[in-house]
Amino acid sequence: MKILAIETSCDETAITILEATGGEGDATFRIRGNALLSQIDIHKEYGGVFPALAKRAHAINLTPLLTAALKDADMLNEGSVSLSPDAATFLAREYELAEELKAFLSAHATPDIDVIAVTYGPGLEPALWVGVNFAQALARAWNKPLVPVDHMEGHLLASLVEGDLKEFTLRGVDLPVLSLLVSGGHTELIQMPSWLSYTLLGSTRDDAVGEAFDKVARILGLPYPGGPEVSKLAERMRGTPSTVTLPRPMITSDDLDFSYSGLKTAVLYMVKGRELSEDEKATIAREFEDAAIDVLWAKSSRALQESGAKTLAVGGGVSANTHLRRFFAEKIAHEYPEVTLRFPPTGFTGDNAIMIGVAGYFRALRKEFAEPGTVRASGTLALHQ
Ligand code: KG4
Ligand code: ZN
Repeated sequence: MKILAIETSCDETAITILEATGGEGDATFRIRGNALLSQIDIHKEYGGVFPALAKRAHAINLTPLLTAALKDADMLNEGSVSLSPDAATFLAREYELAEELKAFLSAHATPDIDVIAVTYGPGLEPALWVGVNFAQALARAWNKPLVPVDHMEGHLLASLVEGDLKEFTLRGVDLPVLSLLVSGGHTELIQMPSWLSYTLLGSTRDDAVGEAFDKVARILGLPYPGGPEVSKLAERMRGTPSTVTLPRPMITSDDLDFSYSGLKTAVLYMVKGRELSEDEKATIAREFEDAAIDVLWAKSSRALQESGAKTLAVGGGVSANTHLRRFFAEKIAHEYPEVTLRFPPTGFTGDNAIMIGVAGYFRALRKEFAEPGTVRASGTLALHQ
């Protein structure tokens, strides 16, 4: 099956063309085309993602990225398809996008794909709608089935694959899987007892861990997106004892929930009114990273004991974090040698359309198609609901 996958939930516009074979738990994927544009430069000056700007950037970027991904896949063929009036209604409020897509369709033939997958939530609603409507218009124009995909299911499945940006597999995963999803919007522990079935075990009561990284970065005067910057700074202090102490919120609480807003506030009080040297900043970044990840591990460990999971898979943007990977690997090796630890390969951690293609493939195998015009973007949708 050839899947065209579209992702616009936050600040990355991404389109991937995947070729997939096999079934749930034993699938092989080839990336035929991949095009991604990050909006970092647009949002940098605001220190965070600005929804109206994100929406506009997605609208501007989608058609050029579609062209690039199809070209990459050798699927950009001359021809002509018309955007029927009902397909055009999906883009009625996206004048520029509608014009660009019409121009694209009038010059290119329907590509040899079998299904269109698109993220419909969770994320920034205005941003999601652009992708959803673009996908709905394409599905109608090309007469292809459409699969709505949960962004978090994408992150979860991406944490189970092995391979690279050319070819990867999803096989040999021992169930049940315990998934720790850590991103800018989510901090969740999810149990997957069988393929594509999920139980939410715990989640954050306030800020997500990625959000805390980003806010601490701002407090320390580091550029957006802050997670990787805090991590880079913290790495400089590894191997030396910490000279400051921050709280580990909810680390001993009798549940699997998280809380990160107090930790961020503690950092704010620690630096308030002080001029920090680079070393002091790095010391605080390191202690913050330790505190944040100590709690992630404590709750994951508790969940492993309670759930008897055979695989622990960490996914989402924060799963790129060096300390998290090292720390979890050491802990699993010493405390749970029978559990397999998995992380997404490079290029699969942050937002991308590859993971949407993977989830879209499995959902398409189950024939979970949606009629164009019926998909609703949702900011709060989550895969456990
Ligand atoms: O999954 P993702 O790309 O987007 C969402 O769905 O939210 O996650 C983005 C989050 C941001 O908060 C970013 O700062 C964080 O992941 N992040 C990191 C690292 N790389 C990205 N946090 C800590 N260490 C990193 N290396
Ligand atoms: Zn994400």
